[in-house]
Amino acid sequence: MHAPFWHVSGQAFFFEIHMQRRHALAALAALGLPAWAADRKLVLGFSQIGAESAWRTANSASIKQAAKEAGIELKFADAQQKQENQIKALRAFIAQKVDVIALSPVVETGWGTVLREARAAGIPVILTDRLVKEADEGLWVTFMGSDFVEEGRRAGRWLVDKMKGGKDEVRIVELQGTVGAAPALDRRQGFEEAIKADPRLKIVRSQTADFSRAKGKEVMEAFLKAEAGRKIHALYAHNDDMALGAIQAIEEAGLKPGVDILVISIDGVKGAFQAMAAGKLNVTVECSPLLGPPLMQAVKDLKAGKTLPRRVVTEEGVFTADVAARELPRRQY
Ligand code: AHR
Repeated sequence: MHAPFWHVSGQAFFFEIHMQRRHALAALAALGLPAWAADRKLVLGFSQIGAESAWRTANSASIKQAAKEAGIELKFADAQQKQENQIKALRAFIAQKVDVIALSPVVETGWGTVLREARAAGIPVILTDRLVKEADEGLWVTFMGSDFVEEGRRAGRWLVDKMKGGKDEVRIVELQGTVGAAPALDRRQGFEEAIKADPRLKIVRSQTADFSRAKGKEVMEAFLKAEAGRKIHALYAHNDDMALGAIQAIEEAGLKPGVDILVISIDGVKGAFQAMAAGKLNVTVECSPLLGPPLMQAVKDLKAGKTLPRRVVTEEGVFTADVAARELPRRQY
């Protein structure tokens, strides 16, 4: 008895698929890649902090684009600045049995329980951008991102150098990032360390503006009011967005940012380069958000059984106003 036509052609179809899969597996084995790679896309769950700054927007775009290019399925969760949302997202990724979890933690502490849950489920965690503070460093496989303490030092060194040879006190106001966030804590530490080189330099006011432009303006307005009648020589902002907000406040107060008050910030986003080219910002210390490509590479390496380095530090520079116009067309974010 003859099998119906659809059945025969169905068998031939499955045989063909079977042979193609065997060839694919042989090719993967020759490349040293595991067999599951032939079967399905890798799934990466990424917990993003939010969209508080131009840096963060560029970081999210870099991760989405790199995942697409690498053929990795990305489950992207925006926590809207809330740690509880990030913890919920990590638990959802664990329930969905993703291959790898990447986390950019809004604050340093409070991650132990959920990271242990990921480990118990056999899902490796990669930290990107920011580090967590946990005694058990085996809770994550690698941390890739900037050296925030060094960024703070670079900002501080620039000011020390700028003020060299002067005699008077240098009064500084500081706009801090999100309370409890690694870049806020580290950039403060690095800056304070660097300005110790000249005892005339003093931080006279310091407050959080949550890495946001609107809050940067608001807090700077409050600083200007509180310091009315006294000279503010320099503003140190933990990111460009807060500096750009503060620049607006300085202008509205009838002062010249970059001249009457020196403006120092961190990130190196296009807006900062435009402000530098206009003479309103003096220096930005680069902090690259382009973490998508190295993250995708790490995901692939991990699943191919390679051991990742514990720490991957992003290479970055310092840009001053005199080079801003030349550098602006080259900026990617
Ligand atoms: O963690 C990186 C910092 O977070 C960037 O400096 C800032 O702009 C962002 O929001």
